[in-house]
Amino acid sequence: MSARLFIPSDSAAVSVGADRVARAIAEEAGARGIALALARTGSRGLFWLEPMIEVDTEKGRFAYGPILPGDAPSLFAAGFLAGGAHPKALGLVDDIPYLKNQQRLIFSRCGVIDPLSLDDYRRRGGLAGLGRAVALGPTRTIEEVVASGLRGRGGAGFPTGIKWRTVAGVAAEPKYVVCNADEGDSGTFADRMLLEGDPFLLIEGMAIAAFAVGATIGYVYIRSEYPHAFATFSAALARARAAGLLGPNALGSGRAFDVEARLGAGAYICGEETSLLESLEGKRGQVRVKPPLPAVSGLFGKPTVVNNVLSLAATPWILAHGGKAYADYGVGRSRGSQPFQLAGNVKRGGLVELAFGATIRQLIEDFGGGTRSGRPVRAVQVGGPLGAYFPQRLLDTPLDYEAMLAAKGMLGHGGIVVFDDSVDMARQARFAFSFCAAESCGKCTPCRIGSTRGAETVDKIVAGRDRPQNIQLLRDLCEVLTDGSLCALGGLTPLPVLSALDHFGEDFANDRARAAAE
Ligand SMILES: Cc1cc2nc3c(=O)[nH]c(=O)nc-3n(C[C@H](O)[C@H](O)[C@H](O)COP(=O)(O)O)c2cc1C
Ligand code: SF4
Repeated sequence: MSARLFIPSDSAAVSVGADRVARAIAEEAGARGIALALARTGSRGLFWLEPMIEVDTEKGRFAYGPILPGDAPSLFAAGFLAGGAHPKALGLVDDIPYLKNQQRLIFSRCGVIDPLSLDDYRRRGGLAGLGRAVALGPTRTIEEVVASGLRGRGGAGFPTGIKWRTVAGVAAEPKYVVCNADEGDSGTFADRMLLEGDPFLLIEGMAIAAFAVGATIGYVYIRSEYPHAFATFSAALARARAAGLLGPNALGSGRAFDVEARLGAGAYICGEETSLLESLEGKRGQVRVKPPLPAVSGLFGKPTVVNNVLSLAATPWILAHGGKAYADYGVGRSRGSQPFQLAGNVKRGGLVELAFGATIRQLIEDFGGGTRSGRPVRAVQVGGPLGAYFPQRLLDTPLDYEAMLAAKGMLGHGGIVVFDDSVDMARQARFAFSFCAAESCGKCTPCRIGSTRGAETVDKIVAGRDRPQNIQLLRDLCEVLTDGSLCALGGLTPLPVLSALDHFGEDFANDRARAAAE
């Protein structure tokens, strides 16, 4: 029997040479006359170890990394196909603490299976959730999701089951399920990893949603910067169709459901659900006034479920194990698990799926191992470009919806970006305004004009011009943005700005710039 080897084809691994490693190992095996069964997988999300390769041994999957193409001869010489000792050996992959200490409900198959093998997917529990949903019927399926306490993982945290119940209750046809895979938040990559590493999970989640609300058509809106994800997901769709999982009688449910993948329009605002719907309809991505909610009048004016990739991908587990089992994970009103994404100046960046309850410090110290630069952590931004910056003294804040809100922050899509003590927080505040100005859809004045005036005001403060008056002006402007913006792009830009001002006020006094110049 040929030895089984697994090399990720995830774009993060490919960006650091996974394809070249796969070629070098295949060539070396050929030269040595060794038969290899080489499978390309998604990534486990241990990015600092990529390209990380795995071999099947009697004791389990054994990992090596990070591997360079030039490592191929020494790996063979060390007998790596049987788990031989090598300077890049990492041991049994399941014993690597970064992985072992996670609670992977959504990402349990990612990096393990061939993403395009439905057999692999089924063998590892795939389609059990959809099977149970069909057995339960639409109403009880929705009640399971309500009971799970699942809240939207795209940023707003709205209860998924309630959204589905609303769509199910509207008498109109057709209905749509739209998956938001625009993933615009800085430092986030969980949607992409899932699309590349376990695409059938999303397809199953969408089929469950469609079955529950009575939708017949699904769209997945994938950001244009994700060509690998788009290709893998499109290939998975074709296979799901060929296997009868999608089509006129989706998985023998007696119901029609099909899904199309669409490339996004390259704007942050196209991740906002109503802009996304405009974009899907072929128009410019501009925010719609709510109400009506998309659940009532969404795509082409029809009832539409809009959910993030991770929300939909949680539902097969919920249906397979029961809503209560999911709700047993987590704290307070934050139930289940959250795939956190560690990025920025951190030693061990990657995906960390945990039940709600861990603190920022646990994430960046226990998992992340501190900064990559070796300098002290000074600020941590949680929740993407509209999220707050946390100083050292607030790093024990738990990463759940309520605790984040109480600390004047937000969880967003679970992105955590680490900065060391070389960061200039006045510049970060300015960046928040200029990001808002660049990405504003232009529909409302506080965001369109206020963002530009905000950047100018930060410049004046840092330059020392009427500092107390301009700081007050900045706070007033933030109030106008919070209260007067039509959507959360303008409405949440004050979070990074005010957290920078409140926790790192010294940077606005220009002391750091002066100190650097001296
Ligand atoms: C400016 C802006 C950008 C957003 N970008 C995304 C995104 O990239 N992905 C996403 O799922 N949700 C994004 N959202 C949230 C969506 O509007 C919406 O709440 C979400 O897709 C609903 O799905 P969920 O309930 O499963 O989270 C964004 C919101 C705003 C205001
Ligand atoms: S807040 Fe900004 S992005 Fe949102 S609707 Fe207003 S102008 Fe558009």
